[in-house]
Amino acid sequence: MRMYDLIMKKRNGGKLAKEEIEYMVSGFTGGQIPDYQMSAMMMAIYFMGMDKEETLHLTMAMANSGDMLDLSQIDGIKVDKHSTGGVGDKTSLALTPMVAACGIRVAKMSGRGLGHTGGTIDKLESFEGFSTGISERQFIDNVNKIGIAIMGQTADLAPADKKLYGLRDVTATVDNMSLIASSIMSKKLASGADAIVLDVKTGSGAFMKEEEDAFSLAKEMVELGKNAGRKAVAVVSDMDQPLGYAVGNSLEVKEAIDTLKGNGPADFLELCLTLGSYMVELGGLAADEKEARKMLEQTIADGSALKKLAQFIEAQGGDSKAVYDTDLLPKAEFIEEIASPKEGYIEKIVCDEIGICSLLLGGGRETKESDIDLSVGLVLEKKVGDYVKAGEPLAIIHGNNKDKMKAAKERFIGAYSFSDSPVEKQPFIKGIIR
Ligand code: URA
Repeated sequence: MRMYDLIMKKRNGGKLAKEEIEYMVSGFTGGQIPDYQMSAMMMAIYFMGMDKEETLHLTMAMANSGDMLDLSQIDGIKVDKHSTGGVGDKTSLALTPMVAACGIRVAKMSGRGLGHTGGTIDKLESFEGFSTGISERQFIDNVNKIGIAIMGQTADLAPADKKLYGLRDVTATVDNMSLIASSIMSKKLASGADAIVLDVKTGSGAFMKEEEDAFSLAKEMVELGKNAGRKAVAVVSDMDQPLGYAVGNSLEVKEAIDTLKGNGPADFLELCLTLGSYMVELGGLAADEKEARKMLEQTIADGSALKKLAQFIEAQGGDSKAVYDTDLLPKAEFIEEIASPKEGYIEKIVCDEIGICSLLLGGGRETKESDIDLSVGLVLEKKVGDYVKAGEPLAIIHGNNKDKMKAAKERFIGAYSFSDSPVEKQPFIKGIIR
């Protein structure tokens, strides 16, 4: 087999066979197929597409390219959750303790933030001493003991995807549906869960700006999960404005904790209950989504989800006192209002701009090596459809550097548009694919 022939076949609109895809993936991972040939193949796929079979073969070849996590020593059905990423997306922080308090086993690999979207690991490091650098043994033991463990992605999990994603990132071949679906699902399949609940975001703060594209991606990933022998459900949810009110690491942790105490924002709570109900149902602990939702609501009402969060933080070396007293979380030196320049109804918020404001404050990473400031960020006071008077706060900004705060404030105001007439609030959950 020659890579040259495979590139030509795809360039001419042909269908790649399973063995050809396996040859290409293992050759690329092993260094026998050079970047320039793989780049040409990615571009050919970008233009000519891949059908469902090719996408499944690519997904499986990438999932099998390194270690497959063996979770067989964990009792019961293991359920994973994945979000395609967004602004203010603190879902894992509240959702995992809620489902674990229902009895679901959550063995999760998470990432750090890059660009305008945050990462769960960074947020969790707001708890002093918390670490995701645990061994596989401790990871498995913690899941068996308390129901949750979160670790950073190991270098040997789907290494083909890691290498290929790096190549796609610099060759303008990221935004192809089959390539995105296979990239995400290869990692999820290699992480070993029996059931996967996907949170696919759509809107100005999401990867998939158009709802139609988000649904296509959701369908493709659910089908891949099922074809690989796992249970899978996708929820398509709104990311046309930040999720909840808080954007920034420790501010988001506080909002997740408030939610577990019964004082969370409505959209965020709805997302946790929706995703959680599918996790509990797929995990076999409830007959249907309705029953699962009641169980999850109960974990907030009786404090068991909050307690579970504290157990989880402690099990990974963190100081769980902040779960009960959020004043102990990292705090910024300056806290100021961002006043509305106008009166009216909030018509639109360019969501990724709000993520960039947090980045400007020092709360996000420009490169993989950057340090981040866990204490900075923004807490929105007004969201789409709300009415505001000129001079009233649109948000509260938390920062440690006045110049950075000035730049972030200007950018923040520029992300808002106003209307004289009332603005209808759009449904938050756009649909379910199962
Ligand atoms: N996230 C991934 O993991 N892969 C992609 O291709 C896009 C987003």
